[in-house]
Amino acid sequence: MNIFITRALPGDVLTPLSGVGTVTVSPHARPLTPAELRAGVAGADAVITTLNDRVGQEVLTAAGPQLRVVANTATGYDNLDVAAITAHGAVATNTPGVLVEATADLTMALMLDVTRRVSEGDRLIRSGEPWAWDIGFLLGAGLQGRRLGVVGMGSIGRAVAARALAFGMEVVHHSRRGISTGLDELLSTSDVVSLHCPLTSETRHLIDEAALRLMKPTAYLVNTARGPVVDEAALVRALRTGQIAGAALDVYEDEPRVHPDLLTLENVVLTPHLGSATTETRTLMAAIAVENVVAVLTGGDPLTPVLPAVAERP
Ligand code: GLV
Repeated sequence: MNIFITRALPGDVLTPLSGVGTVTVSPHARPLTPAELRAGVAGADAVITTLNDRVGQEVLTAAGPQLRVVANTATGYDNLDVAAITAHGAVATNTPGVLVEATADLTMALMLDVTRRVSEGDRLIRSGEPWAWDIGFLLGAGLQGRRLGVVGMGSIGRAVAARALAFGMEVVHHSRRGISTGLDELLSTSDVVSLHCPLTSETRHLIDEAALRLMKPTAYLVNTARGPVVDEAALVRALRTGQIAGAALDVYEDEPRVHPDLLTLENVVLTPHLGSATTETRTLMAAIAVENVVAVLTGGDPLTPVLPAVAERP
């Protein structure tokens, strides 16, 4: 069996693969180009991908008919064409569960940062500009008694809600399933809107110009889900014109590119897709991807398969 891994994984998580097949790890300390990915997967029975690798028909054809599993080292799988992978006779897997707490923690960090101007204060001190405590200096907004609107009440949305309640916030949520607040009402009444939905054809640009116009001028937008859920150009305009108070983003429409205007705005906090970035969580994610490969290549059931029927459901 041939196992291709598109990016080096942490720790000794590859050990379970030793009796299963020949492992090839990309030598590059960067995401592969599409051509490198196609070359790397050729002849592979299993591929371990990151969210930077787009796996569609071309990659599947390049791999060959023997391919049995595409194990994504992420909970999101919008980079995989799950229907095509399934039609190819392979299974797609992801790494749900283990990154819930880490991502919820980062969401709170961003929420606190943008509302209390933490990064802005850090930039100010590093700039060397003189400063002194003053009653009106660098004031932000408290979270207590404020309303958090959670868009997408999956496990990460629920973990964020639990944290927000502990901070004294009131929480409303919007989801496609179950009883929830309508999106327009959530947007127009929330003090912080936090996105936790997957990226699908239905959620692409869910937060567009019209959605941003509904938000309060004192409200903040936090995105730790996927960049294309937000129309970045519309967000820049809304931030510029004071239509909303600020934004904290961990993900971008065209990663790793960041809209250049976002870099110029003080009321924006930017992190480089760090939602799951703790040593513990990333190690667990890698271990799950490896376990999925071992399970499939040894004739068992994958731990965390992504089914085509649910792949497009927000
Ligand atoms: C990270 O963004 C993930 O989906 O795991």
